[in-house]
Amino acid sequence: MLGLKLLTDPRWANIAENNLQEILSDHAWCEQKAASNAIMLITQNPEYEDLVHELTAIAIEEMQHFQMVIDLIKERGYTLERERKDDYVGRLLKFNKKDGSRNMAFIDRLLFAAMIEARSCERFRVLSQNLKDESLSKFYYDLMVSEANHYTTFLNFAKKYSTDVDVDKRWKEWLDFEGELIQSYGTKETVHG
Ligand SMILES: [Fe+2]
Ligand SMILES: [Fe+2]
Repeated sequence: MLGLKLLTDPRWANIAENNLQEILSDHAWCEQKAASNAIMLITQNPEYEDLVHELTAIAIEEMQHFQMVIDLIKERGYTLERERKDDYVGRLLKFNKKDGSRNMAFIDRLLFAAMIEARSCERFRVLSQNLKDESLSKFYYDLMVSEANHYTTFLNFAKKYSTDVDVDKRWKEWLDFEGELIQSYGTKETVHG
């Protein structure tokens, strides 16, 4: 799925289902961080008109997702917990190349975003297929579709705006790295846990 090297064990959905307040809180913050990341890319790369346009739409959509999740938390009588460090994302961030050209850093930041969208999409798929709660399962199905579109947008911009990066080769490196990394996860009730 989306080139991912390792699919999540469906039993992770049961862990999530047993602590909905925790997974929903973590999920809400994932959406907020996705919006922030899109805004950061816009701020640092205003010269790319189509990127500014499309990432503005993504930032808005991610905040709509945030709103949908916090509404769900409220409806179900849960509390939005405080944001916590996402260890998985932190390790992906370290894989970003920061010592190359400006174009390399820009392209890698787009691939970093595509990588998180891909895994989040896969995790939402696992939830949509395995949660016993039908309305929650439908909710995650819809989000899965949306995150798959974001993945495509980030990857396409990386291909479009690369000047000195072999994007296909670098994307393979990202997929290999992530495939190894994700092996240490799948046991916690967080989106990337
Ligand atoms: Fe989202
Ligand atoms: Fe997204």
